[in-house]
Formats: sequence, C-alpha cells, structure tokens
Amino acid sequence: MILYPISLFERMGYSVQGIKPEGYRLTLRPEKIEKEPEIIIGKNFYLFEEIDSTNDLAWTLALEDEEEGTVVIANAQRKGKGRRGRHWFSPSGVNLYVTFILRPCISPQKAPQLSLVSALAAAKAIEKIAGIKPEIKWPNDILIQRKKVAGILLEMKSHEDKVDFILAGIGVNINVGKDEFPGEIKDLATSLRIATGKFIPRLKFGKFLFQEMDSCYRIYLSQGLSSILLAWKNYSEIWGKKVEIFTPKGYTTGLALDVDQEGALLLLKEKGEVERIISGEIQ
Ligand code: BTN
Repeated sequence: MILYPISLFERMGYSVQGIKPEGYRLTLRPEKIEKEPEIIIGKNFYLFEEIDSTNDLAWTLALEDEEEGTVVIANAQRKGKGRRGRHWFSPSGVNLYVTFILRPCISPQKAPQLSLVSALAAAKAIEKIAGIKPEIKWPNDILIQRKKVAGILLEMKSHEDKVDFILAGIGVNINVGKDEFPGEIKDLATSLRIATGKFIPRLKFGKFLFQEMDSCYRIYLSQGLSSILLAWKNYSEIWGKKVEIFTPKGYTTGLALDVDQEGALLLLKEKGEVERIISGEIQ
C-alpha cells in the first residue's frame, strides 16, 4: 500500500487485517476508543491499492451493516464516479479518493445537508494544508482560482421516512500535474500542487480531512445545520450574483440570495419571486 504505510496505522492504535480484494481493514483498538469515546469518523478504515470506486465498495459494506464513520480509501479508482453519471479522473498515487459511511437519524429530504457538511470539511482541510482559501460552489464543488480541485458525490439508501445510510464520497486533486489531466477537464480542473507550486503530503492532508469531517459531522449531529451553514457561507462567493443552475427540472437563473436551513439555494427571480432549489449544479 503506497498511500498510507500500514505500520503508521499500527502506531496510531489500529489493528490490521488483510482482506479481499487486495486491501486492509484497520480497526481502532478498544483502549484508544476509551480515550476518545466521542470520535465517529475513522474508527474503521478500509485501504485499497486499486478498486472500481470507493463509493461502490462502501455501498456493499454499508449493506452488510458496516458501522457509521467507517472510511474507505483507495490509491486509484478504475471507475471513479462523478455527479450526473460523469467519470471521476482517479489516477494512482497522486490524489485522494475517500468515502465516509454515515448513518444520521434524519429524513431522506434532509440528506442533501450532508453535502454542505462534507464540502465544509473538505474546504477547511484544503485551507489548512495549502494555506489558500478555496471557494465552495453550491452545493459542494470546491474550487481554487475558479478551477475544480475537489468534488463530492453523495449517495443514499433510505426506507420509508428514514435514512438507512449516506455515503459521502470525496475526491481531491492533490499532486496531479496540469499535463496529466485528460483533455476534456484540463482547463477546468486544478490540484493543490498546481495551485501552491508545492508538493503536498497526502498522508497529512488525509489526516486533516478525517479530523475536519469528524468535527463537522459531530457539530451537525449535535447542533443541526445552522452552525455548519454559517461557516459554509463564508467559503462561497455567489451571494448577490446572477447564476444559472441546472436542476433535475431543467435550467433556471436568478440572483443567489442565500441557503436556507435545509441547505436549499434561494434564487431571486426577475419578477421578484424567490425560487428554492433543493438540488442542482451551478453552471
Ligand atoms: C463530482 O462530480 O464533483 C463528484 C466527484 C466525486 C469523486 C469521489 S472520489 C471518491 C468517491 N468514489 C467515487 O467513485 N466517487 C467519489
């Protein structure tokens, strides 16, 4: 495993077990959990050299009752998934591909809130390691100098009025070089190395991301979306600007006013009415 040396996890208090396909399951030892009983994210890790998609593997684990907070990481993905059925460029050894298994007691309508929670955690970790404040483009694209540096794919299984599990898959372009991006995303994507001109240690970045995800998720569970929203809005630059949004119902435009308590974007339309967008993508 090139991404994270296993011995390092052992030193951090994890027990290690080899699993198929070619990977490791790391479990935080009970004496460590006793010291930090409140920790949610990172009690269990699954590490793989290469798999199709960390979200797909997390889905299988979650169906098998894998506990909340489990993290699936791969050094490369063969079929990395982006939003709207797109492919996520996932070369080996340079970036981070990670999925968090979450089991919040919320209704399926509130699931998009976890996009904001994950985006805030990713933005904070990026700012911490790179010293550059990224922009969050509603709901969860992370940009530096208007180019995409990280993306989030949320998937959910629910029954009746209750979320069974939510998978928050995050891909961060860390050390990939400009010339390595495929032609179709070359002008749209960037990496932390391109933006800072410096090599970024993936292990250190991963640690920051897991800590931020744990902290943001616990704040969300104990206080709800409001405190997350306050911090999230601070990373967004669209307020008062005209935006065009692709929604499941088609395109819509308006002035970006605010995000409400459910995480929906409020758009001021030409005739003065306010449109509430629950899911979509700013163009
Ligand atoms: C987007 O289109 O912006 C979302 C990209 C999400 C990519 C991540 S990489 C880790 C996880 N596994 C996947 O297959 N996709 C997500």
